[in-house]
Amino acid sequence: MPPRPGPEKEPVRILGIESSCDETAAAVVEDGRRVLSNVVSSQVPLHARYGGVVPEIASRAHLEQIVPVCEQALAEANARLEDMAALAVTRGPGLAGCLLVGVEFAKAVATARRLPLVAVHHVAAHLYSVNIGRTHDAWGESLTPTGSGTRDPETRNQPYVALAISGGHTSLAAVRGPLDIEVLGETLDDAVGEAYDKVAKLAGLGYPGGAAVDRLAAGGNPSRFALPRPMLAREGLEFSFSGLKTAFAREVQKLGGPEALATDERALADLCASFQAACVDVLIAKAERALRSTGLNRLAVTGGVACNRGLRDALARRLPGITVAVPELEYCTDNAAMIAGLACHHLAADRTSGPELNVKPGWGMGS
Ligand code: KG4
Ligand code: ZN
Repeated sequence: MPPRPGPEKEPVRILGIESSCDETAAAVVEDGRRVLSNVVSSQVPLHARYGGVVPEIASRAHLEQIVPVCEQALAEANARLEDMAALAVTRGPGLAGCLLVGVEFAKAVATARRLPLVAVHHVAAHLYSVNIGRTHDAWGESLTPTGSGTRDPETRNQPYVALAISGGHTSLAAVRGPLDIEVLGETLDDAVGEAYDKVAKLAGLGYPGGAAVDRLAAGGNPSRFALPRPMLAREGLEFSFSGLKTAFAREVQKLGGPEALATDERALADLCASFQAACVDVLIAKAERALRSTGLNRLAVTGGVACNRGLRDALARRLPGITVAVPELEYCTDNAAMIAGLACHHLAADRTSGPELNVKPGWGMGS
C-alpha cells in the first residue's frame, strides 16, 4: 500500500509592504511563492511633470496610500491580519522618507497585533522575484512536494546568476539560496533604468521613458550611431552608464537638438535602437562573464528593465546552453509580492526584527 501523506502543514501567509521609491505596494504571499494578492499604487502620474521622483511628494503619497493599499491586499486575498504568519517590509535601499512610512507602519501593526516583523532588502527581493507566482520554479522544475506533504520554501532551490536592473539599481549576483547572495558587480554611477529614463527625457519621450525607448528601438537601426559599450573592454563585472547617456546627448545635439529630433522619426528610432543595442551588449556580456566565472548555467533577469523586449529577445538568442528566467511583468517592476515571498525564507530562518528596526536607505546587499 502506498504510504499515507503526512498531515498538511499550515500554509505560511505573509503580508508584504513596499514603499522604497514611487510605488506603494502590498501583497499577501503563501509559502514564499503563491500570490494571493498583489496591489500596487503607482505614483508615476504625480512625478511625471517633474521628470523624476520628488522625494517629498513620494513620502506624502505613501502616507496617504499605505492603509488602503494594505486593506485592499488583505481583502483581495480574502484574509485578515490574524491569518498572517508575519508582516514583511522593505528596509532599504531607497529614499529615506519613503522607507520610513513603510517601516513605521509595519512596526506599529506588528506590535499591535503581536505579529513577527521581517525586514527585507529591496534588491535581494528583486533577485528572488523569478520565483514568485509560480507552481514550477523559475527553471521549470516542479515545486510540488513529492509525498512528504511539507511546504518547505527552500524546496528545490537552484543556484543562479541574477541581474537586478531597474531605475535604482544595476547589480549582478550569484544567488546560491534566497538568503545566500554574493554580489559580483554593481554600477559605478547611473543605474541602467536611470540611463533609459535620462535619454528618454533628452529625446522628449516623457518620464519614465524606458518602455518608450524600447518601443521605438524595435523599429530602428541599431548600427547607425556608434555609441560606446562602457566597461566592456575592462575586466570585472562592474557597470557604468553615465558615459553612454552623455554620448546619446551628444548625438542629439549633432542632430540639431531635441526639437529637430522630435520631427525626425527615423533618426529618433535609430538613436533609440543604437542606445538599446549598447545597453543589451553590456548587460549580456557581463552576465556571460559572471556565468563563466561562477560555473553556473542559470540566469535570472529581474527589475523594471527586465521588461525590455530587445533584452529579452537577445537573451533568448545569445546565451546558448544557459537557462534564462525572467519574472512575470508584474513582478519585474516594484511590487510587494517579492518582499513577502523572500520574507518567508527569513521567517523560516528565524530572522525577524523588533520595534527598534530602522530604515537603511543606502543598504548594500553584502552588509
Ligand atoms: O523596478 P522598477 O519598477 O523600479 C526601481 O526599483 O527603479 O523599475 C523602473 C525602471 C524605470 O527606469 C523604467 O524606465 C524601466 O524600469 N523600464 C524599462 C522598461 N520598462 C520599464 N526600461 C527599459 N525597457 C523597458 N521596456
Ligand atoms: Zn526596485
